[in-house]
Amino acid sequence: MNASNGGGAFLRIESVSKDFGDFRAVDQVSLDVMRGEIFALLGSSGCGKSTLLRMLAGFERPSAGRIVLDGVDLAGRPPYERPVNMMFQSYALFPHLTVWDNVAFGLRRDKLPKDQIAARVDEMLRLVQLVPYARRKPHQLSGGQQQRVALARSLAKRPQLLLLDEPLGALDRKLREDTQIELVNIIHEVGVTCVMVTHDQEEAMTMASRIAVMSEGRFLQVGSPADIYENPANRFVADFIGNVNLMEGKVVVDAADHAEIECADVVHRVAHGITGYQGEPVVVALRPEKIHLSAQSAPVPADDRNRVQGMVRALSYFGGYTLYHLELPSGAALKVNLENDTRQREGAPAQGDLVWAHWLPTSQVVLKS
Ligand SMILES: Nc1ncnc2c1ncn2[C@@H]1O[C@H](COP(=O)(O)OP(=O)(O)OP(=O)(O)O)[C@@H](O)[C@H]1O
Ligand SMILES: [Mg+2]
Repeated sequence: MNASNGGGAFLRIESVSKDFGDFRAVDQVSLDVMRGEIFALLGSSGCGKSTLLRMLAGFERPSAGRIVLDGVDLAGRPPYERPVNMMFQSYALFPHLTVWDNVAFGLRRDKLPKDQIAARVDEMLRLVQLVPYARRKPHQLSGGQQQRVALARSLAKRPQLLLLDEPLGALDRKLREDTQIELVNIIHEVGVTCVMVTHDQEEAMTMASRIAVMSEGRFLQVGSPADIYENPANRFVADFIGNVNLMEGKVVVDAADHAEIECADVVHRVAHGITGYQGEPVVVALRPEKIHLSAQSAPVPADDRNRVQGMVRALSYFGGYTLYHLELPSGAALKVNLENDTRQREGAPAQGDLVWAHWLPTSQVVLKS
């Protein structure tokens, strides 16, 4: 689902910065999040994700900039006066309270009438499918069940904005994958707008309609998962998301509808103009799954561009695909994915084989060096 409903931005972050002493943790970040959208902040440790989330929640005050939720400037509003709920990585469930009482906690503190509390808690437990577990204590639940209790508790007060900081960080891989989909379904069912933080790109790509890639307090790119993967804005994003081959080179042909880039081992032909780069250094980014391999004995690809001969140095079997590490004539490495579409992998190149690697002129992304 994408967030086409509602028109303008529901959450607006305007040039927000956060300084801790003379260290700038968040640096002039601007962002519009649509109503009902799941938005992910993705970046490596220390890049400022949690700090930004904590400013949305009201636990930190921005050093500069504005945060506007549904048209209301949140400046000066303490966390409990914001229609926002933040779910922490550790879940912070009360160990001595039952599942039911954990979910009811915030509602009781708000002094809601008893029957309303009961109705709301039961509704939330149904939503996260934990009705049979209502009387248990957190330590009697699995990690995934605890995560769902925390989610039910976060949603019980019907926040307009749900903030998730590494929501699945404590779960093992398989459970994580199942829970990601479950979480998305619940969030969409409730219709709450969500900003989540993760350093796991697969998680961001599975759950979010849009992602901001962060580094050193800044947004390097904001876009859909496909956008960020297929059209990375710069070298950092290309390298950070997924696997990629980066080849430095020089633009030697710079036409309206195509270009050629000379790199150490290969001349790249790309099927689009890149205008104005003539003679300049660039980086060609090429994803491993967009490269094809042919045995040396197979007919040589006709065009002498977009092809290079290499030797299979190593291969890593990943089940669905095998990652080949080729050594190119200059000694540089080239990573290639080969889909394992048969069980026996007939004719697949083996270690030590000489092969041709080739690709289409629509496969590369040319980036400023
Ligand atoms: N209260 C604080 N005082 C001083 N520096 C802080 C404070 N909180 C965070 N920082 C610094 O700001 C930077 C960003 O921290 P933040 O917690 O936002 O990172 P993060 O992206 O969430 O990382 P992680 O993925 O490890 O959780 C870090 O360098 C951190 O040391
Ligand atoms: Mg963090």
